[in-house]
Amino acid sequence: MKSISLDITKAQQFLPAGAVMALKDKAMAARKGLEEGTVPGNDFLGWLHLPSSITPEFLAEVKAVAADLRSKAQVIVVAGIGGSYLGAKCVIEGLSNSFQWLVKDDKTPAVVFAGNNIGEDYLYELTSYLKGKTFAIINISKSGTTTETALTFRLLKTQLEAQVGKEAAKSLIVAVTDAKKGAARTCADKEGYRSFIIPDNVGGRFSVLTPVGLLPIACAGIDIDALVAGAQAMEKECAVDVPFEQNPAAIYAATRNALYQNGKKIEILINYQPKLHYYAEWWKQLYGESEGKDGKGIFPASCDFTTDLHSMGQWIQDGERTIFETVLSIEEPEKKLLFPEDEENLDGLNFLAGKRVDEVNKMAELGTRLAHVDGGVPNIRISIPKLNEYYIGQLIYFFEIACGISGNVLGVNPFNQPGVEAYKKNMFALLRKPGYEAQTEEILKRI
Ligand code: PA5
Repeated sequence: MKSISLDITKAQQFLPAGAVMALKDKAMAARKGLEEGTVPGNDFLGWLHLPSSITPEFLAEVKAVAADLRSKAQVIVVAGIGGSYLGAKCVIEGLSNSFQWLVKDDKTPAVVFAGNNIGEDYLYELTSYLKGKTFAIINISKSGTTTETALTFRLLKTQLEAQVGKEAAKSLIVAVTDAKKGAARTCADKEGYRSFIIPDNVGGRFSVLTPVGLLPIACAGIDIDALVAGAQAMEKECAVDVPFEQNPAAIYAATRNALYQNGKKIEILINYQPKLHYYAEWWKQLYGESEGKDGKGIFPASCDFTTDLHSMGQWIQDGERTIFETVLSIEEPEKKLLFPEDEENLDGLNFLAGKRVDEVNKMAELGTRLAHVDGGVPNIRISIPKLNEYYIGQLIYFFEIACGISGNVLGVNPFNQPGVEAYKKNMFALLRKPGYEAQTEEILKRI
């Protein structure tokens, strides 16, 4: 089986000679530290050998619950935010038909996401859409207390119970949460919902290969066996005994840190397939939340090409030279479509007649790569044989392990997220949450 591959040659040309190799020891020490559990945040390393620890029995259990929900519900609502949302969203978007809503048959449930915002219109429109439909809820929250998810779950649970009755609702709700603590666990145990456990030692943004991601992904009819097999293969390729020169995660981590040290503060993850839009959203959370701390960190951004070449292309070609690109390049599309010949040739495009759409896309990619490099933008390229479960699984684990290494090379604890608490404290103070009286008094003086 082929593997994803990494090309850093067009990044290295922007660096002093030997800059990537200069970080080899640090990167390999970080890789060893992850293995030995000696890095900061070592109580959150449960993701490291997660792929190889997933058993066929566990996958069968996830698939059985997914099949049950699929057989009962017209719509499956996945409630969760951040790491309890983006992994499933990116895999489902990446592997589903782009027009899923329009082409799916009546027997296939729609999988929709909620609990990732507090938009009143969004929730109103969702609850209106669910009226009169049989729907299931997967309530995902590690802490079990996240406001966005909890508020959404409250709305959905109330609606479901009103529509099908309290007893029937129980078989349509599944909780994915902590083994013991949090409101989601208390509620699941009290009501008797089926539930899956999020391991204590796996942080949200590293949890896509736990039931957090696997259950919704299976509900969307995607092959989770192949996804996990891809991640398992990448776990081997990035193992602790693989030398730096052959370890793609260590090389990627060292390269992006070398670029950062040389003034490239923003990394833009680029794709040439619209289905990968949410993959970039997942990646942004992984790297943003892991590395943006202690006044440091590459800012993770993303663009969808060629779409954004007609908007952000100008900035990338010509703006401040503080950026570099990491391009996700899919070698072979799943489908085949040829441009037709046109007798009148009014658009002058007959020279492309008979060519595959992807051939044009690939030339756009190559042309853009050369133009951006000419414009002073270092380019890392990740080549992915196909956009399927197996290679998405590889890519997930590749970026996770690279993130663990990269954060350590940067000198931060990649596994905590102290910065996300600040807005929550202010929001609770402003909403006058019981227990926040002193903060409420303080914050009201500031506005
Ligand atoms: O990566 C993280 O830890 C966060 O993004 C969380 O996943 C997010 O805040 C949701 O938390 P929870 O699963 O506790 O509801």
